[in-house]
Amino acid sequence: MSLKKAPSVRIAPSILSSDFARLAEEVRTVERGGADWLHVDVMDGHFVPNLTIGPIVVEALRRVTRLPLDCHLMVKRPEDWIPAFAEAGADIITIHAEASAHLHRQLAWIRKLGKKAGVSINPSTPLTVIEEVLDDVDLVLIMSVNPGFGGQSFIESTLDKIRRLAEVRGDRAFLIEVDGGVGPQNAAAIRAAGADILVAGSAVFGQKNRKKAIEDLRRAAEPKTKARSARKRRS
Ligand code: DX5
Ligand code: ZN
Repeated sequence: MSLKKAPSVRIAPSILSSDFARLAEEVRTVERGGADWLHVDVMDGHFVPNLTIGPIVVEALRRVTRLPLDCHLMVKRPEDWIPAFAEAGADIITIHAEASAHLHRQLAWIRKLGKKAGVSINPSTPLTVIEEVLDDVDLVLIMSVNPGFGGQSFIESTLDKIRRLAEVRGDRAFLIEVDGGVGPQNAAAIRAAGADILVAGSAVFGQKNRKKAIEDLRRAAEPKTKARSARKRRS
């Protein structure tokens, strides 16, 4: 898959807020509803105080959707898991800067396995921590809540962080993704600050009509752009 900058915002529903007992159906609702990517929150009970999804679920998801699988690894020692998620069918593998002593090596490894490499930082981690790897990533995931749970409130200081990252980016090709507390109420500000991809858990899966929830987000993020069919934009 290509991770080129797109003229319009991409929406990545997070399955963390979906009904896990009906996962395939839930995924279908957002795929049909125009989602661009599917965000998969992997938590190990150590890096974050919650335990969720392993490679076996990613492998199952791969069989039921054509959406790019955007795997957000909130795990200690990501090096123990990178090959398993790559093999399971992840398209993008994002690891946390705080979780890895050898970030550069692991990002290179993700790319070597033919996957897009993402790096993420928690709200309290400064941008300077990832400064030296900005040439080695396809995506930077800015956490706008403390990771571990869906349904938390957006931390406002994140907006300034996104703005600063967008400035530092210059003509580098990486995409900026924002995760946590994103909804129609703040999508415009997050997009204006420089986000290319909005992750939304409760704002999508908490709504009955997934298509409308995704369209509302898209419209809020880009008030002047008419929501277009996801198929045209998908990459
Ligand atoms: C939080 C996860 C998020 C979460 C977002 O640890 O990384 O992806 O699912 O959920 P909402 O959109 O409900 O804040
Ligand atoms: Zn996430």
